[in-house]
Amino acid sequence: MKTILTTLGVSLFVLASCTGQKSKPETDFIQENIENAVAQETIQTDIIEKSGRILNPRTINADGSILYVAIDDWCSGFFPGNIWYMYKLTGDDKWLPLAQKYTEALDSVKYLTWHHDVGFMIGSSYLNGYRFANKEEYKPVIIQTAKSLSTRFRPAAGVLQSWDADKGWQARRGWKCPVIIDNMMNLELMFEASRLSGDSTYYNIAVKHADTTMKNHFRDNNSCYHVVDYDPETGEVRSRQTAQGYADESSWARGQAWALYGYTMCYRYTRDPKYLDMAVKVHDFIFNNPNLPEDLVPYWDYDAPNKPDEPRDASSAACTASALYELSTYLPDKNYKATADKIMGSLGSPAYRAEVGTNGNFILMHSVGSIPHNAEIDVPLNYADYYFLEGIMRKRDLEAGKKLF
Ligand code: GLY
Repeated sequence: MKTILTTLGVSLFVLASCTGQKSKPETDFIQENIENAVAQETIQTDIIEKSGRILNPRTINADGSILYVAIDDWCSGFFPGNIWYMYKLTGDDKWLPLAQKYTEALDSVKYLTWHHDVGFMIGSSYLNGYRFANKEEYKPVIIQTAKSLSTRFRPAAGVLQSWDADKGWQARRGWKCPVIIDNMMNLELMFEASRLSGDSTYYNIAVKHADTTMKNHFRDNNSCYHVVDYDPETGEVRSRQTAQGYADESSWARGQAWALYGYTMCYRYTRDPKYLDMAVKVHDFIFNNPNLPEDLVPYWDYDAPNKPDEPRDASSAACTASALYELSTYLPDKNYKATADKIMGSLGSPAYRAEVGTNGNFILMHSVGSIPHNAEIDVPLNYADYYFLEGIMRKRDLEAGKKLF
């Protein structure tokens, strides 16, 4: 039914029923969402600027106060990234010094080697600065970050190791070389580093990681596991499990979104059709799933047992929508853009988008960090906002007839 609705292109109808308003032209939708984001991010940045410090909002605490994170947190790039999107979406120079300042606070991340998330962190911040403001001086940071991430490549297994397995909660899982599907997102930085430096090492590692992940992370129904643990000496798969999903054999919603986005992005850089096929297969798993709600914002795990009382995850929906805008450019005969528009319509409705001045000044409500860790359940998350703003930018560019890349 969902697929049929999408196929019929009734996204505007759904948007209208979500908002309780008559359908409006899409330019109004884009403009209204930009204005809403400007209002929220202005409040957010005013608080930070008044503090005299450089703060990095990730989510809210149980008491509603804003949770700020340190620069080595995996989410530290998204807030600077959101400010880069404000600059790009508005063209207003007032955002430029803020985007630069929050980005450059992450400078030392380029030497971080103890987890894999530097691709998210530096990709959202420095890479967007390089793309949107021609910041040539950001190039060496991007390349050095790829060099640091490359230290986590395990040649015998053909993967970038995601997490260290000797400390924190990961040490209790008995893993040797855990790789999570999220790691596909870090490959964009590797591809860019090769493009910017002319050194194919990063590109080759990215391709190897994408190929190994394609071989070992996916089930026959094209859903993916969250964690695959490898023997780094032999490359043997030791186990397939979850960390943030409901169960080892369940389909964690954000993992499917990372996979869709990751393989779409791999096709962008390689033009290898096997990555495009993989992205389409992940799309088909998501959108043919009977557990996907009508508004296309998934529960936190497709197999969570207490639906419809399980929390939704707006971050997965936002990442999926942004990925589908890109995928629609490679396969224009499919209805991927209509599906992305429908997701964005849901996220932009009062069901998910917060009133200005509420929600810790984040744009979207109703995301989930990790239910098994009892962390960040039904809260705003800076990366939900990040992929929502990226989706707005991609939608605007596509509708203006511009190339995305
Ligand atoms: N990369 C961690 C997460 O998706 O929650």
